[in-house]
Amino acid sequence: MTAYICGVGLYTPEHIVTNHDLEERVETSDEWIVTRTGIRQRHIAQGEVTSDLGAQAARAALADAGLTAADVTHVICATCTPDSYCPNTATQIAHKLGLTGPMAMDLNAACSGYIYSLQTARALTALDPEAVVLVVAAEVLSSRVNWTDRATCVLFGDGAGAAVVRAQASGRAIGIVDAMLESDGRYGELLTILGGGSARPYAPGEPVGDDFFIQMNGREVFKVAVRSMTDVCRRMLERHGLGVDDLGMFVAHQANLRIIEAVGKKLDLPAEKVFANVQRYGNTSAASVGIALAEGCADGTFAPGRRVLLTTFGAGFTWGAVLLQF
Ligand code: UT7
Repeated sequence: MTAYICGVGLYTPEHIVTNHDLEERVETSDEWIVTRTGIRQRHIAQGEVTSDLGAQAARAALADAGLTAADVTHVICATCTPDSYCPNTATQIAHKLGLTGPMAMDLNAACSGYIYSLQTARALTALDPEAVVLVVAAEVLSSRVNWTDRATCVLFGDGAGAAVVRAQASGRAIGIVDAMLESDGRYGELLTILGGGSARPYAPGEPVGDDFFIQMNGREVFKVAVRSMTDVCRRMLERHGLGVDDLGMFVAHQANLRIIEAVGKKLDLPAEKVFANVQRYGNTSAASVGIALAEGCADGTFAPGRRVLLTTFGAGFTWGAVLLQF
């Protein structure tokens, strides 16, 4: 059953950290970061928390949809860097929007959180055709980045992307045609934020260790990311009898320009159909494709009538693809 994205929005904190700024903090270089990742800068929150970023993106998405917060029946917050372990961040976003009453839950599928949430929203609108589901993917990854670890601190940024999903076509009326969402927990150890979870509790007064922060085996993640996103996209295209010529645009998780280009090449997509904004935002995890979608809608990259394929990959591992009809 098709559901529709009626409005999209994004928010990124004002403060920008460039590669040159990072040269002052760790032993790295602009040249290394650009060559290996494509990233030139990232936005970093200063005093703002995940729900602040999420609420700003949500306001933009509601305005884009021509709706108000009072119309919202469900809030899903996709994040792996919540404001707190408890309460969840979705309730705090709802509160900041002046809302009481909506079902409000967090969804953690790491970098796949936005597309997992779109599919959850689609299911909710199938159960309740009157539902107005606010999907907010928001991350303050800078709070869980080890700023002394050059292998990870250069990669991530903060930001939020939001979408309003309904059963009926209104506003932008972007059809969510299909979703394929997958995971494989065998790879769990390759990309983690362990510290503070039940498997790695902290005792009162104990200083946090390295495991409190993002830890990643980049090389291994890279290989499986390319393989998994390519594979799920091929199967999605096959399932709908589509070729790459039928796609207007291809949007992969914005983690690394080399990964994005490798997947595009394996799918035989021409470079001009492969979306990239990782250069300006870094890897914003769950928010990445949400920010991409909102940015591309605002600047006309995703013109009406075009099919757009989204694909993501993240910790877990979780990955998937969503086919959109503009
Ligand atoms: O969001 C979830 C999905 N995440 C991803 O998709 C990330 C996937 N992985 C990647 O994007 C890449 O693996 C990285 C960008 C993380 C790393 O690139 P790489 O080409 O795989 O580099 P590497 O880890 O193999 O490291 C190569 C060298 C190493 O030095 P040696 O051992 O060859 O002497 C690292 O110590 O680069 C060194 N290095 C750095 N040098 C300068 C690692 N980080 C840095 C740095 N600056 N920031």
